Formats: sequence, structure tokens, C-alpha cells
Amino acid sequence: MATDVHRPVTGAPHGGETVSQHPTVVRVDGLTRAFDGRPVIDRLQLDVQAGEFVALLGRSGCGKSTLLRILAGLDRDIEGTVLVPRRKAVAFQAPRLMPWKRVWRNVLLGLPGRPERAVAERALEEVGLSHRSQAWPKTLSGGEAQRASLARALVREPDLLLLDEPFGALDALTRVKAQRLVDELWQRRGCAVLLVTHDVEEAVLLADRVLVMDDGVIAHEQRIDLPRPRDIADPRFAALRTGLLERLGVEAPAAPAAEAA
Ligand SMILES: Nc1ncnc2c1ncn2[C@@H]1O[C@H](COP(=O)(O)OP(=O)(O)OP(=O)(O)O)[C@@H](O)[C@H]1O
Ligand SMILES: [Mg+2]
Repeated sequence: MATDVHRPVTGAPHGGETVSQHPTVVRVDGLTRAFDGRPVIDRLQLDVQAGEFVALLGRSGCGKSTLLRILAGLDRDIEGTVLVPRRKAVAFQAPRLMPWKRVWRNVLLGLPGRPERAVAERALEEVGLSHRSQAWPKTLSGGEAQRASLARALVREPDLLLLDEPFGALDALTRVKAQRLVDELWQRRGCAVLLVTHDVEEAVLLADRVLVMDDGVIAHEQRIDLPRPRDIADPRFAALRTGLLERLGVEAPAAPAAEAA
């Protein structure tokens, strides 16, 4: 039988769990999701603390997006318990903007009530896109469209921000800028973030904790205690990256001879 409990678990004012310094915003217990009788997620356990930045790695097809869709409340055909905050937002790899609505209207799409344009403008300002507020989505660059998608997530004032490979389609430079933007937004907003990525370096750069999903469960967990902003040239950074790559079954490239000596 499917047990799907979506309710806020952050504390006051809704009266959730006891509020410690870092209350739990996501609690997943014994989660199973099967497609055609084949479990993709198999009795998975996961807790995320308020304000925590968690990155989720795993080979293609291991169930990362499936997990994210469940946390977003988009898939309820599950077994187990899933507790998530009421205020959550999701951004996917493809920005999914409605082509017939101007950017600012896209940002407000799906918000309850009749939110004022100023709400969209504030979010667009936060992602550096005020100047494209009136534009049609098809005239945006890839990076701009992704920022519009982030603005749409931010207007929901989420306690939990779910990001499914949001930078996957961006060129290297735009990607670095987008990573910095997410880092800044997270620090400013203080919401919990669950970022699905294929990029180990991105995970170590941004996350407090990196999870590796395999065989339907969280198979490995790595806390990243490096000070921020992080330096990819730091040997501790390289060691964490190598360790995670090994977990993913990827051989790290051999160090150049001069470095190895
Ligand atoms: N609606 C569905 N019906 C049937 N099978 C599905 C459905 N959604 C996902 N799957 C299957 O579940 C598995 C996990 O898919 P999922 O999209 O979660 O993987 P992923 O880890 O996000 O992969 P990627 O890194 O390639 O995005 C895949 O084998 C996929 O084919
Ligand atoms: Mg996916």
C-alpha cells in the first residue's frame, strides 16, 4: 500500500517537529518506487536538515530524478514515508518556460492568488535578469532561461529547493556563473537545497554533503567540511573529488609526473 504523507516538517508556525538548531526539512523513510514491477528506489532513507545544501550523484538511470519528482510531490505512487516542507520549488535541466507568456508572467506561473508583477521583478532582479522581464522566452539565451527558471522557483520562497541538473545544458563559462548564483541565493535565502548533478566537482564546490545513489538507495555519503568559497586547487578538494569519482566507478586521471613526484 502506498503511504504518501506530504506535510511541513519545519517547526513553527505550523507546529511541525521539535525545532532544534537544525530541524529536519526532509525525512524519507523506507521509500520504494517501482516501474512495471521493477523497483528503481528500494527502501531508501534520507534526511535533509534545514538550510543544508545536499548534492546527489549517481549513474544515469539510477533513480535521481525519480526521487526528486517524489520530493516535489509530482509522483505519489510510492510506498514508504516522505515528509517535505509545504513550501518547496523545483527547477529542471530544461527551463520549461511557457513560450506564449512573457518572462515575468512565467515567473508567476502557478503561484496562488493574483501576485503582483513586482513579486516577479524582485525575483528576476535577484537572478540578474530584470532587463529581460518583458522578453519572450524564445529570445532568451540558455543561461538566461535557466535564471528565469530559478526566479520562478524563488518566488515560491521555498524551504526546500529541488534542482535537477539545472546547469547540465550550459556552456562551461555560463555554468560557472550559474553555480555561483545558486551558491549566493542559497546563502542569502537559507533554504535547504537538493541538487542532482553528474558533475562531481560541482557537488564538492557547492554542497555540505554529497550523496551517491546506487541500487535504489543512498549508497554513500560524504560530508564536505571545506571552508567557503571553495578552491578547486586545494589538495583536500582534489582528494574529496577523487574519492567520490572512485565511488562512482570512475578512475581519476593520473596526476602529471611533476605533481606526482
Ligand atoms: N514513468 C516511468 N515509467 C517507467 N520507467 C520509468 C519512468 N520514470 C523513470 N523510469 C525509469 O526509472 C529509472 C530511473 O530513472 P530516473 O529518470 O530517475 O534516472 P536518473 O538517475 O535521473 O538518470 P539520469 O542521470 O540519466 O537523468 C530509469 O530506468 C527509467 O527508465
Ligand atoms: Mg535524471
